[in-house]
Amino acid sequence: MAFSASRCLFSISPGFSTSLSSSPSSSSSSSSLFPCNLYSGSVQTRGISLDQRRRCQWSTFVCKQMEAVKPSSGAKEVVLDKESSLMGRSVNGALPTTSSLSSKDNGENLGLIGEDKEITVTITVVGASGDLAKKKIFPALFALYYEDCFPKHFTIFGYARSNMTDAELRIMVGKTLTCRIDKSENCDQKMKEFLSRCFYHSGQYDSEDNFSKLDEKLKEHEAGRISNRLFYLSIPPNIFIDVVKCASTSASSTSGWTRVIVEKPFGRDLESSSALTKGFKQYLDEDQIFRIDHYLGKELVENLSVLRFSNLVFEPLWSRQYIRNVQLIFSEDFGTEGRGGYFDSYGIIRDIMQNHLLQILALFAMETPVSLDAEDIRNEKVKVLRSMRPLEIENVVVGQYKGHVKGGVSYPAYTDDNTVPKGSLTPTFAAAALFIDNARWDGVPFLMKAGKALHSKRAEIRVQFRHVPGNLYKNTFSVDIDRATNELVIRVQPDEAIYLKINNKVPGLGMRLDRSKLNLHYAAKYSKEIPDAYERLLLDAIEGERRLFIRSDELDAAWKLFTPLLKELEDRKIHPELYPYGSRGPVGAHYLAAKYNVRWGDINAENYKT
Ligand code: BG6
Repeated sequence: MAFSASRCLFSISPGFSTSLSSSPSSSSSSSSLFPCNLYSGSVQTRGISLDQRRRCQWSTFVCKQMEAVKPSSGAKEVVLDKESSLMGRSVNGALPTTSSLSSKDNGENLGLIGEDKEITVTITVVGASGDLAKKKIFPALFALYYEDCFPKHFTIFGYARSNMTDAELRIMVGKTLTCRIDKSENCDQKMKEFLSRCFYHSGQYDSEDNFSKLDEKLKEHEAGRISNRLFYLSIPPNIFIDVVKCASTSASSTSGWTRVIVEKPFGRDLESSSALTKGFKQYLDEDQIFRIDHYLGKELVENLSVLRFSNLVFEPLWSRQYIRNVQLIFSEDFGTEGRGGYFDSYGIIRDIMQNHLLQILALFAMETPVSLDAEDIRNEKVKVLRSMRPLEIENVVVGQYKGHVKGGVSYPAYTDDNTVPKGSLTPTFAAAALFIDNARWDGVPFLMKAGKALHSKRAEIRVQFRHVPGNLYKNTFSVDIDRATNELVIRVQPDEAIYLKINNKVPGLGMRLDRSKLNLHYAAKYSKEIPDAYERLLLDAIEGERRLFIRSDELDAAWKLFTPLLKELEDRKIHPELYPYGSRGPVGAHYLAAKYNVRWGDINAENYKT
């Protein structure tokens, strides 16, 4: 086998799967208490854990591909299996179909004879000199290499317009790489090895010729092995289609898969997003498009389904019957510094709410999927999005940060940014009350709040439960009863944690209750560093796992929800409420919450402590 995938150290927490699988009684008792546990297969019953499945995926996949291209004696036809056929569509002659592979391509020319049918993966980062590539993509690729998650034959190409040599690219990439704390001993060596696999190709984004040249270079590196090609589009959206066209017509694989990862913004509204999807689909099948929402790659967002569907204690409470409100909170303690140009034509609603927060909401609120397969999960998410009540402007508050002086330091207003037009009305803060009109969530407010230049950096989900009916202890609380309801907090970042606020008797002879926390604090519980979201998502894209990527109908449903609101805000030129840089945001957000009898959970000082 070309690659020992079991060395890839990515895993669902070993502690978690071990504790469940190590107890012989655990699976039977849990399945009788919690019928059809989605995760039972990943623990025991399917005989292979999700962890193992991920580790095995490469080998299975390699075998499938080898089977697929095995040349039959005499016949020159190649039969591609489903996985391989993901690249097998021919539109405008761009991507080959099974039958369009010529006999020259089908193995003889590629040297895929006998035992020698190894696979290669090439990742081309288009827009290699950009910020995202430098800060996130190359470091994530290195982390995957560091964790032994790549096959034996892999190559990384940077593609951009500027002239750069391979050596210069390596210097640029090398500056951004960091080592995993737990294995830093051989880090230098690993970096050298990784950088030696990085190459650069300079070209225009709309030049088929330039992409053909890239194709030649890729072929040299692939050396006749089965070639799998991943293009990461780290470029502005106005050139997405040019690149997809050139990559698919001139540089797609002829023997393995071709996939494209694309980052938001996927349009500015329903219309432009649909046009983009249509453009992509001229050259790619839906299965080849991996639309990233990097929040879906965050550890605690991925854990959301595990929490719900593999613990008896949560799922039965997960409805209007027990949950009073759900809060999805995103805040950053810095402004748009340096990104004002991009940000001003999008604003916080498009930048954070319509994607990151809405995706979390969909995962949080969806019904139990039939299985953990990508299509089953995405089907459920779409249903939630389609059940959402149209968003009314009365249920939205927008804000924009203004300059502020604190402790002798002066903080700029949003409009002080040189890249932002003077008098811009673009919101840097928004709060919204959303409703899902289905049987499970009817009447439960889902409150979203997202803002830049606020007092703290955080992303969290807060679930406030209803009051205990006829609470015997209602006179014993030292705080008002509203604050004494149970609250489950899933802190996505920073300092990942899941905690449940409960009422507890203060030890002693008297009867006094206080608020305590059942606390799963990741740093205290798990010694392993949490991988960056991009690592997980890149690995998933390479493995063909689509669960954490956005399907086009999800995207449509998300835009359908937000487009009328955005249009109204812009048509009516609604002025955002100004809030000081570093503050807790516009007061309007509190009135909005109060309208639904909700108190934002992040305003108490106690919530800053673990
Ligand atoms: C991006 C937004 O999608 O997410 C940025 O465009 C934002 O404005 C960023 O800063 C936040 O991501 P993270 O992972 O740093 O929380």
